[in-house]
Amino acid sequence: MSPKIAPAAPVLAIAIALRREADSWLAPLRTAMPDLRIEVLEDLPPTAPDYAVAWGSVTGLEKYPNLKAIVSLGAGIDHILANPALTHLPVIRMIDPGLTRGMTEFVLLQALLHHRRMPLFQAQQAKREWRERFSPLAPNRRIGVMGMGVLGRDAAKQLAAVGFNVAGWSRAAHRVKGIETFTGAESLAPFLARSDILVCLLPLTPETRGILNADLFARLPKGASVINVARGGHLVEADLVVALESGQLSGASLDVFATEPLPADHPFWSHPKIVVTPHVASLTHRDTGSLFVAQAIRDLIAGKKPKGLVDRRRGY
Ligand SMILES: NC(=O)c1ccc[n+]([C@@H]2O[C@H](COP(=O)([O-])OP(=O)(O)OC[C@H]3O[C@@H](n4cnc5c(N)ncnc54)[C@H](OP(=O)(O)O)[C@@H]3O)[C@@H](O)[C@H]2O)c1
Repeated sequence: MSPKIAPAAPVLAIAIALRREADSWLAPLRTAMPDLRIEVLEDLPPTAPDYAVAWGSVTGLEKYPNLKAIVSLGAGIDHILANPALTHLPVIRMIDPGLTRGMTEFVLLQALLHHRRMPLFQAQQAKREWRERFSPLAPNRRIGVMGMGVLGRDAAKQLAAVGFNVAGWSRAAHRVKGIETFTGAESLAPFLARSDILVCLLPLTPETRGILNADLFARLPKGASVINVARGGHLVEADLVVALESGQLSGASLDVFATEPLPADHPFWSHPKIVVTPHVASLTHRDTGSLFVAQAIRDLIAGKKPKGLVDRRRGY
């Protein structure tokens, strides 16, 4: 603890199971909030923490009786909302320009990969097969982004900047220049019907769990590709395999899975039409993420509504 910090200063606990990871947040968070006492959770007595920043599993936080709020170091907070012992606490999800940019880069990479049929060329390479196959230009490729929130909106804008014909789907109506927007369950079918490449950037809620299923795949144009960078719980894995094998889908990029790490014997590892990545689409950056946490804590202390405050009723 720095000697300049007042003894009665609010206490922020870093709740990350991996000690090395927790320690790596100490310096950036202390720099961003020099007036707070900031320690790793396990170094504090249970009555000390006023606020917690959390990453990954949040089991154990219920033992800290004076906690007033949890700030998530990730954008997805479904695992925090699912903890029945923490329902009394406000949760703030991460909004970090680094996280957003990283996700957009990853979505661009995967979209271009399917647009230019790379999984097919990789399969051909494995067989030493020289066979030309051509793709339309980006304006003739329709991409649909499910979820036009912080991440989906930025990805959609950058996909449109590359020249793709982009549409977005969300709960409430949004107007985004150059992007056709679809709103609510009733507009899902027409949105899907014009999505050659579908990107899932929805939060995992009771409404969106299992949304990437056989019914949805059947509504996409034949030969469409699916990119899931949101949560494994969005996808019905068996339905994806059937849709790929029937040719209804031509490929998929999956960054998130029902079970992580993906078990070594999982069929996705060796499926020729599936690109597997180990939940690396994007990460919160410590410098910019710490500034977001600092502003959220300042707002909470001042009794103001922080940006990123989760609506527990909506589930995101
Ligand atoms: N793979 C990774 O590395 C990684 C990294 C970060 C985040 N993520 C995932 O990405 C997700 C999205 O993040 P975000 O920051 O963009 O979330 P967000 O800002 O909360 O945006 C969520 C979007 O989904 C829409 N939505 C929610 N429920 C819906 C429903 N039932 N029907 C239609 N649209 C619905 C929302 O609609 P409204 O606009 O109408 O509210 C909003 O546009 C996170 O929850 C997390 O799971 C993954």
